[in-house]
Amino acid sequence: MAEANRPLKLAALADLHVEETSVEPYRRLFAEISQKADVLALCGDLTNLGKPAEAEILAEELRSCTIPMVGILGNHDYESGQVAEVERILRDAGLHLLENHIHEEKGVAFVGVKGFAGGFGSRMLTAFGEEIVKRFVAETVAEATRLENGLRVARAERIVVLLHYAPIIDTIAGEPAEVFPFLGSSRLAETIDRFEVSLVLHGHAHNTPQCGGSQPQLNRLHEQGGDFASLRARPPMPLLQSLLAAPTVRL
Ligand SMILES: [Fe+2]
Repeated sequence: MAEANRPLKLAALADLHVEETSVEPYRRLFAEISQKADVLALCGDLTNLGKPAEAEILAEELRSCTIPMVGILGNHDYESGQVAEVERILRDAGLHLLENHIHEEKGVAFVGVKGFAGGFGSRMLTAFGEEIVKRFVAETVAEATRLENGLRVARAERIVVLLHYAPIIDTIAGEPAEVFPFLGSSRLAETIDRFEVSLVLHGHAHNTPQCGGSQPQLNRLHEQGGDFASLRARPPMPLLQSLLAAPTVRL
């Protein structure tokens, strides 16, 4: 079977929020995923406060994962201003951090950026008025541009996009409406819609019904993807099987 037509079983996690006090928080799950999936995708907020010590704990967990791992960072991973060190620790543990890189696995190209906020549709924040508002919008546009640059050079027939922030409003239903503008931006979706993308995964929203509400444990949700939280799928989709487990902690 040609590589482009071969099924790929993808396990996706977001918002792990590993803390300094976490004790083997994902070891069993990563070992189990390694038996069931071909690739593990991590959609940001891998650490709780972006501390290298938290990244070191996650790195030990990642070493129990024996399948290829791709991922991006989330807003929490920036909290302590030590992103470069956090990235280095996670890369050393075998995680392919996407951001400015594309990783290809079994004929599927993984493209990813963190993304940013700003709201959705006609209610998106626009670059008008105060300088600080313009800088906020410029950050969203910059993230969308980085995503566009990745999508332009991805050559695989199947492309999976990883984001932390949501590209559409539909997958954040269940969160308080007051925070919707802080959960993502349609500018990400506008970029994605210009390319043939098979699957989009994002994190950042913890309280959608599909994410299991406020339960502190990981919840394995839907296999054979297509209708789970933080996922946007369009044809050609059937070749990608998905397995989602989403922990629920604060944004
Ligand atoms: Fe987040």
